[in-house]
Amino acid sequence: MADPHQLPPTPRRFWHFRRAVDDPPNFMYELIKRYGDVARWQGFFDMYFVNHPDYVRRVLSPSYEHFSKDIIDYRVLSRIMGNGLVSNDGPHWVKQRKLMQPMFANRTVNSFDMPINVLTKTMLDSWDQRLADGPIWVGQQMGRLTFQIVGATLFGSDIDQYADEIAEILEIVNLQTQDIRALLTLYSWLPTPYNLKWRKAKRRLDEIVYAIITARRREGDQKNDILDRLIGARDPGTNEEMDEEQVRDEVVTLMLAGHETSSMALAWTLYLLAQHPEIADRLAEALDQALAGRPAGHKDLNSVPYLKQVVQESMRIYPPVWAIGRRSQQAEVFGDYEIPAQSYIAIVPYALHRHPEFWPDPERFDPDRFQPNPSESRHSYCYLPFAAGPRACIGLGMAMLEIQLVLAQIVQRYRIKLVPGHPVEVQGMVTLKQRYGLPLIFSPRGD
Ligand code: HEM
Repeated sequence: MADPHQLPPTPRRFWHFRRAVDDPPNFMYELIKRYGDVARWQGFFDMYFVNHPDYVRRVLSPSYEHFSKDIIDYRVLSRIMGNGLVSNDGPHWVKQRKLMQPMFANRTVNSFDMPINVLTKTMLDSWDQRLADGPIWVGQQMGRLTFQIVGATLFGSDIDQYADEIAEILEIVNLQTQDIRALLTLYSWLPTPYNLKWRKAKRRLDEIVYAIITARRREGDQKNDILDRLIGARDPGTNEEMDEEQVRDEVVTLMLAGHETSSMALAWTLYLLAQHPEIADRLAEALDQALAGRPAGHKDLNSVPYLKQVVQESMRIYPPVWAIGRRSQQAEVFGDYEIPAQSYIAIVPYALHRHPEFWPDPERFDPDRFQPNPSESRHSYCYLPFAAGPRACIGLGMAMLEIQLVLAQIVQRYRIKLVPGHPVEVQGMVTLKQRYGLPLIFSPRGD
């Protein structure tokens, strides 16, 4: 019998170091494929990988308090997000999550369908004007659209005048957390060229966000959006409101967490549909039957289950949040192996969603895997685009609504084709991006 306290298997130190830096998602997938459900990698520091759904469940759910967010990635993110919900931890996070959970109730989120549809239609009308000019770079387009959606739904029109400027700032500050430039922001007094640019961008972002909050407080009129609720939220125990900095941190967090993820989910889904025209056609037909050409509202989504299946399968192959990191507070045993206290632990949805025991033929895009009421039930922790447990994504409902509505309009309107010869590879930044961008060719379905 194996020694129950041995460290997980690992290759030699700095194994495939270049690959680890250049292509972390596929590097981690390779490592896990080679070493199994618990693995170790020794670089400048040790990383432990946990890839069996039973182990993942333990980290994210019953024992989540044993796995903190005190890791380098969240320290880098907190330089810009402050103490917002994503990078916050411990009792303060519990308090904030309780305050903010009701803001994302179904009833509120469902009412976002109108603005989402209007903004999507405006974007597609502008595409119609330039279809003949060449491909559309969908990463940028989806990024713009999902940012507008977060702005309109969460912060009302207050953000309009700053939208382009904020988008530019977020582009500067939102680097991959392991990027050396991002790491150096932990020492933002160092006058590196990037730090100077970063400091200027952050200062301007703070100015804008505080100006929006102050203006809203001054106006005092109830728009009943998330900004109003952040400002008006009171701790049920103490009746205390959030201070100005906490409101700022939550606003910036929602802007960042709430747009790039959804935009990458949309871009990858369009890519997969371009590769699989038969699936795109089946989806278009299902939409046509249920909607006869009109845009979907939240109530329509149940009558087109295939739409959700396509989105779910796309996020299986290309999970926008492709890795989730934690620090073990104490030594933890997973199967035959022990992970020491204070270790960096990674759950990698990009690899988990390809686990051969749970996902046969994992590279095949097959939305039927997600048919409602499948004959066999699936392990609930082998599919985690939104994580799970107490720290699961608070924006899940909003993201699923937004992605389905945007996708529905695009597929109703266009056939989608790849640009021949354009390389498409994943790039593991904070979200899973397309390394060389993603140009796609759209042609009207009616033609
Ligand atoms: C496809 C779109 C999205 C994906 C794939 C996604 C994924 C995730 C994941 C995996 C986490 C957990 C991270 C961790 O624990 O380390 C998370 C947390 C979070 N997400 Fe999302 N997200 C999406 C959209 C959104 C939207 C639209 C919003 C808000 C408008 C949002 C706000 C948040 C927040 C605030 C957290 C932190 C929750 C907490 O720890 O209490 N996300 N998201």
